[in-house]
Amino acid sequence: MENRRNWNLNWHFTEGFSEEMLKEGHFSGAPLIHLPHTVKELPYNYFSHDATQMISTYAKEFELSAEETEKRAVVEFEGVMTYYDLFVNGSFVGSHKGGYSRSRFEITDFVRPGNNTMVLMVDSHEREDIPPFGFVIDYLTYGGIYRDVNFYSLNKAFISDLYFRYDLEETTASAYPEFVVDNSGAAFDGTLRYVLTDREGSTVFEAEQDLTVPAGISHFTMEKKEIPGLKLWDTDEPNLYTVHADLSENGNRMDGHEVRVGFRTMACKPDGFYLNGRYTKIVGMDRHQSYPYVGYAMGKRAQRADADLLKQYNFNGVRTSHYMQSRYFLDRCDELGLLVFEEIPGWGHIGGEEFKKVVLQDVRAMIETDFNHPSIFLWGVRLNESMDDDELYTKTNAIAHELDPSRCTGGVRYLQGSSFLEDVYTYNDFCHADDPGLDHVQLDQHEVTKLPYPVPYMVTEYMGHTYPVKPFDNEKKLDEHTRRHARILARTLARRDALGSFGWCAFDYNTHGDCGSGDKICYHGIFDMFRIPKYAAWMYRSQKSPEEEIILQPVTNFARGEKDLDGITPFLVATNCDYIEVYMYGESVGIYYPSDKFFGLPHPPIEVTFNDKTFWNRPWQDGKVIGYLNGKPVAEYRYARDAYLAELRVLQETKVISSSEVDTCRFEVTFADQYGNPCNFINTPLHFSAEGDLEIIGPSYVSPVGGHIAFWVRSIPTGKKGTGTVHITALETGMPEQVLKLELEP
Ligand code: GAL
Repeated sequence: MENRRNWNLNWHFTEGFSEEMLKEGHFSGAPLIHLPHTVKELPYNYFSHDATQMISTYAKEFELSAEETEKRAVVEFEGVMTYYDLFVNGSFVGSHKGGYSRSRFEITDFVRPGNNTMVLMVDSHEREDIPPFGFVIDYLTYGGIYRDVNFYSLNKAFISDLYFRYDLEETTASAYPEFVVDNSGAAFDGTLRYVLTDREGSTVFEAEQDLTVPAGISHFTMEKKEIPGLKLWDTDEPNLYTVHADLSENGNRMDGHEVRVGFRTMACKPDGFYLNGRYTKIVGMDRHQSYPYVGYAMGKRAQRADADLLKQYNFNGVRTSHYMQSRYFLDRCDELGLLVFEEIPGWGHIGGEEFKKVVLQDVRAMIETDFNHPSIFLWGVRLNESMDDDELYTKTNAIAHELDPSRCTGGVRYLQGSSFLEDVYTYNDFCHADDPGLDHVQLDQHEVTKLPYPVPYMVTEYMGHTYPVKPFDNEKKLDEHTRRHARILARTLARRDALGSFGWCAFDYNTHGDCGSGDKICYHGIFDMFRIPKYAAWMYRSQKSPEEEIILQPVTNFARGEKDLDGITPFLVATNCDYIEVYMYGESVGIYYPSDKFFGLPHPPIEVTFNDKTFWNRPWQDGKVIGYLNGKPVAEYRYARDAYLAELRVLQETKVISSSEVDTCRFEVTFADQYGNPCNFINTPLHFSAEGDLEIIGPSYVSPVGGHIAFWVRSIPTGKKGTGTVHITALETGMPEQVLKLELEP
């Protein structure tokens, strides 16, 4: 399907729905909104979890030329939460169930030359007939058209999907792409062709084949062709190629279709995961796709940034818990070499017959939409942590294997000894907290599977509710949080009976009152909701080689009264330095080496165990932690005895955003002391404002969380070049207002 026209701009939105709204001209002149959109912006916390459960209406007026109405018109929705009825020019076209699946409708018979109106009645209630609803769920799903809408004007026959199937032998692929062709006319003799280009755009391979295109929807698999000399897709070198395909009739091009692909082999075996034949331990995080205030309604830049953050913090994997996620996020995973476990929507509960129909539809939608992403290594075909249902899960597995024999299936459970219908037994192992003495983390696979033989096995969640942590929690808690993550990571890296582990979870997230800390937030992330790292995140990042990046992050406020009168030691330092030297009371109190408590980590945190006997007899002094590599000091972290607010540090994500769509820029604000350390407990309010064609997302008055906060600014799409400014003021601190420029480019 070529000529994708993005239809994100200029929609009418109103709460409620009535037949009146389908009448011609009903919306003319009403205010406009742009996508991605949420039915209601929410506060950061303490709001009703029912706030976005409503019926609402989206309407789009669009013009088509007489020529365009001769062609086929298809509209595509990448994500509408959670149900919609679609009407064009007052007539009902169809409906769709499920807030995470792509849907398409042909509207050729409903459009006319000139003005047209498309109306969506959107239901964002937690409906029992749609997964994940029907019982308790630990996250919010929000509502509205929160991903892109696209419009295609197409010839009578077009390529609706292309699955670029191949087998791989070393660097030679035997490719047999499968085309799905939709032909509204009579059967015809045509030609399918594709050109494979590399990153630089150079042609690597071409193939074509004649076929008879029957009327209706047909699948056509091209003959196997060998493509030699490929650069493989890998976690370190994620080489990508583009397939440019087209369909023609007697030399007349009917349609084109483009997909991005990568070539790799992936094998899930009882002793681990093999990527291109190389043993690869998967170290990942679970990711919810929600953000403060707007929930799911964040576009391309923010989606991509989440993947970048995971890569930066040294993960090689991510689970799209608990549903299919944005193509922008998945595209970035492809580009960065992050291994993705994608799964269908669900949480603990299996509903009735209609619900189950949607489950099967979701499996299809997931694989049909995301088949070509090289980063995806596993399809999750169970509803997260639901009970065994062999009838249902035999079907979900069969669909997945039929659509994609090249990938394994998994299905996340909390059940031990459950029916093993998938290729990989995937299990949420929170056992760390339940075990006395906390010296045993993660069960062995046979304890979980209860099978007398080894199978491919993977831990799909750990930590989470067993140890929630707020960025401003007492240091002891943050310290233990870091230790637990380190212990589990060490175990993950050491064990040979699991493909890897995913931690619960990357980012704190909004949830229902049934879960979380009572304020509608689950503080389970190693980053907060604003994507600011907690100490545990630094532990993961410090596992990188120091050649890549030197990390020195002490897990302490370096204050004598923070740890329940225990003094400041012992404290951890997340670092990849060889050793550290610590200064207290103005003098060196010792050299410390990587702790042997986290055996198996490439760079175990260092534990500073100095026994401060003189505690109250000496005046407190500035402190220092110095990191050494090869005997040379390479990093230093200083602490002030008399820490005071000295600086408002602002990180701006980008200097330029688009004015042709709703683009965003993230600003991270840190209240820093004279040594640049965050003032973790400050609650001084901030004020944000924007000028030019920009808008602040969320409130303009906020208090920091743990010494920091971030906010996003979005462009008001004008299609024009311009300059916007963002103003940040820390109220009544005497610090000057910060004025930051943001260029807007069409
Ligand atoms: C799991 C569940 C996750 C999340 C987590 C909290 O059981 O799958 O969605 O709720 O618990 O630790």
